[in-house]
Amino acid sequence: MIEVSASVLNIEKDNATRDFYNLETAKVNYFHIDVMDGKFVENNNVELMKDYALTIKHISNLGLDVHLMVEDIENFIDEYLMLSPEILTFHIEVTGTEERTKKIIRTIKNEGTRVGIAISPDTSIEEIKPYLELVHMVLVMSVVPGKGGQKLIPETLEKVKQLKKYVDENNIDIDIEVDGGINDITAKEAIEAGSNILVAGKYLISSENMNEAVQKIKM
Ligand code: DX5
Ligand code: ZN
Repeated sequence: MIEVSASVLNIEKDNATRDFYNLETAKVNYFHIDVMDGKFVENNNVELMKDYALTIKHISNLGLDVHLMVEDIENFIDEYLMLSPEILTFHIEVTGTEERTKKIIRTIKNEGTRVGIAISPDTSIEEIKPYLELVHMVLVMSVVPGKGGQKLIPETLEKVKQLKKYVDENNIDIDIEVDGGINDITAKEAIEAGSNILVAGKYLISSENMNEAVQKIKM
């Protein structure tokens, strides 16, 4: 079953509650919270994303799909675990050692929260193979992390195909999320490549009919 995770990154503060309500009515499955610390990526939206996550927790039952684009992973995990997110995802490019990676995974799982591991466009799936049996999802970035509204990088879908082939051959039950540049056209390509969760930001927020836009991605 294909699920849609709505990125809140490009939602204007003045329209936030209205957009959250419209996205929920349009039957997205999750809200994708893109936390950026100004170190791992240039933008810093830490306060705004916390504000959005708290608002969503108050007005919606949909799960928070939290994407940590941060260097100080441990502190952001502590902060977001208090919101009981659906899933907490960190970047493998940040952790540095197998020991730190496994400690982060354990910390999140000990709180009963699902764990995701993210790879940027230039990162090979070889980097995450040691952890695939330990996490619930791989987030494959199909744009360079840091901002919404970018074009999907086609080569990243080759990685999705490689990853899907590997997890199938090794009987690893894991979600594959594609994040960045998803619209009605690229969604089909991402699903064909093996993804089952699609993050969409600009395509949904700028659509005339959000319900239709969500259905077009899920098809
Ligand atoms: C980029 C974020 C993505 C992005 C998706 O760093 O991780 O979630 O906001 O937005 P669109 O769908 O507009 O590319
Ligand atoms: Zn994201």
